[in-house]
Amino acid sequence: MTLINVQVEKITQEAEGIRSFLLAKKGLLKIPRYTPGAHIDVHCGEGIIRQYSLCGDPADRRHLMIAVRQVDPSRGGSALMHRAVQEGDRLEIGAPRNNFPLNETAPHSVLLAAGIGITPIIAMADRLHLLGRSFALHYFARAREHTAFRRRLAQGGYADHVTFHEGLDAAAVGQALDALLAQPVENGQVYICGPGPFMDRAEAAAQGRWPRNAINQERFAAKPALTGAPTKPFSVKLARSGVTLDVGADETILEVLEAHEIDAAFSCEQGVCGTCVTDVLGGTPDHRDSFLSASQRSSGRLMCICVSRAADDHVVLDL
Ligand code: FES
Repeated sequence: MTLINVQVEKITQEAEGIRSFLLAKKGLLKIPRYTPGAHIDVHCGEGIIRQYSLCGDPADRRHLMIAVRQVDPSRGGSALMHRAVQEGDRLEIGAPRNNFPLNETAPHSVLLAAGIGITPIIAMADRLHLLGRSFALHYFARAREHTAFRRRLAQGGYADHVTFHEGLDAAAVGQALDALLAQPVENGQVYICGPGPFMDRAEAAAQGRWPRNAINQERFAAKPALTGAPTKPFSVKLARSGVTLDVGADETILEVLEAHEIDAAFSCEQGVCGTCVTDVLGGTPDHRDSFLSASQRSSGRLMCICVSRAADDHVVLDL
């Protein structure tokens, strides 16, 4: 995958524990075009790659903006970004990719964000405002000091579309989501991004009221129920080479491929980014990812090989 060199031009403390990073592309080549909802892989150092949503202006082909929440305990990426990365440092990033696209023609969009989930959502709000589309943004945060981009949201020209929900307990968040999603809008769209429990609750509030294809979400971490489920051994056949490999109960397909020096694209290794999605030619996948849509899962034709397994004793992949 082609990497892009950028320089950290500005670091801003956007809220308690959340910093934004303005990344500048120098030289002749500009940043590839991207759309709201897109993210980039950031090579944070020490071999750690993390995905961060883009929250800057897509029309600015010289800059990208990401925001990072310091996670405690960190899996390494957020700690490096908060403690080690300084203004002036150089970073390598992947080209923008979008697994969370915005429907720009919907008659109304409901944007639901919690915590650091505001990053793709604020980019969507900027775009919908630019297009003059109808939308409402609801931003949930533990407290006012944890609300990132508060000034930009409150003074950005669409403040009357934004509602802050600060300091609510879990029950109150649930009640608010139920109320916000009680009345579906014909051909409207719902976008959800935030921590896992918020995503689960918002999804539950929307399900049965809004059509399935109107509910759009992006997860930053895998659902624990999926990653913690019991595992058993199975075999994986690689259709192009005819090779069959055994996958132990404590291994993933991706790990087995790597052990046999077979190249396969991957990034997050958590089932959230979609980089490792592979065509399934035989067998039934046991989906453990948080990336594929319900219809992609039920088709049985795709799987995330970093976390998903075979439901029976084998799976055949287009590799
Ligand atoms: Fe990210 Fe598999 S590597 S979903």
